[in-house]
This record gives sequence, C-alpha cells and structure tokens, in this order.
Amino acid sequence: MVLVPQVLDVAGDVPVLAAGGIADGRGLAAALAMGAQGVQVGTRLLATREMRIHDDWKARIVAADALEAVKMVNAERVLPPYSRPGVRAEPRSLETDLVRRLREEPEGVDAEAELAGLLAAVREGGGHEQIRSPGSPSGSSATCALPARSSPGW
Ligand SMILES: Cc1cc2nc3c(=O)[nH]c(=O)nc-3n(C[C@H](O)[C@H](O)[C@H](O)COP(=O)(O)O)c2cc1C
Repeated sequence: MVLVPQVLDVAGDVPVLAAGGIADGRGLAAALAMGAQGVQVGTRLLATREMRIHDDWKARIVAADALEAVKMVNAERVLPPYSRPGVRAEPRSLETDLVRRLREEPEGVDAEAELAGLLAAVREGGGHEQIRSPGSPSGSSATCALPARSSPGW
C-alpha cells in the first residue's frame, strides 16, 4: 500500500490497480482514496468456497496471523520465475518445511525432486504442504471461507 502513491505519481494517464494486502472493503476504499482505479485481490480469494484448493489450505489461511506470511527466500530454486527478468521479487508463503529448508539450507534442496513432488501434489489437489501462498499477509484478514461475493465489507 505504501507504494501506491509512488506508482500513481509516475503512472500519469495509465490506470493503476493496487495490489497486496487488500482483503476487504477497507482496503479497496483506501486504494481508491489514494487515486488507484481499482484493486487486484489474490490471497483473500483463495479462502473462498469457489476456489478449488484443498480445504486444509483455506483453513490455514483463515487461521494465520499477519506475521506468518514469510518471504520465500530462494523460491527460484523450485518455482518458475515469479517476475520479469531484472525485477527482483520474492513470493510469500506460510511457513512449510520446504520454505524453511529453502531459507536455511538451500544447497540441500534437490530442486528437481521437489518440483516433481510439488507438481504431483498439485495434480492430486494438494501442494499446500510444500508451498502455501498467501501472496501477502492479507490472508489474515480472511475470517472465514465465505463465497467470494459475500466477502466481508465488499
Ligand atoms: C496463489 C498465488 C499465486 C501467485 N503467483 C504470482 C506470480 O507467479 N507472479 C506474481 O508476480 N504474482 C503472483 N501472485 C501475486 C498476485 O498476482 C497478487 O499481486 C497478490 O496476490 C496481491 O496480494 P494479496 O494476495 O495480498 O491480495 C500470486 C498470488 C497468489 C495468491
């Protein structure tokens, strides 16, 4: 949210969508008040009935507090590039064993085996044991897994 005014200052006539940590009507209102044309919501929509991710993953998002969304250091060892070349960006995840090992002992992570395991888990409807997005701490604002259209405060 702190970056939104800076982006707006250089955007000129280009419409700006604010993203990151927006999970309810208050975030939307704040972004519009700053001058953004709209918002992009990610994590909050994971914890909705319509989202076809594992119920355990939704429950973890709802239960998490803001400090549990950690930066996923060395994510590029097991994930495709997260951003454009030359733009440094670290995704966030709730802590998992893989997230911890990537941070604390990256050389010990067998990237090929981890990626194969991750893809297999995702195909089975899981994957959240390895990498558990939220993209940001906004998941902590998700108080229950509601239908997307009835998110509190929209
Ligand atoms: C499951 C998931 C996957 C995402 N993947 C990417 C990605 O590959 N590259 C990227 O730049 N942002 C990615 N994002 C970030 C979203 O595009 C969006 O900017 C972000 O989720 C907004 O913040 P919020 O999650 O707090 O609403 C992802 C977000 C989620 C929840």
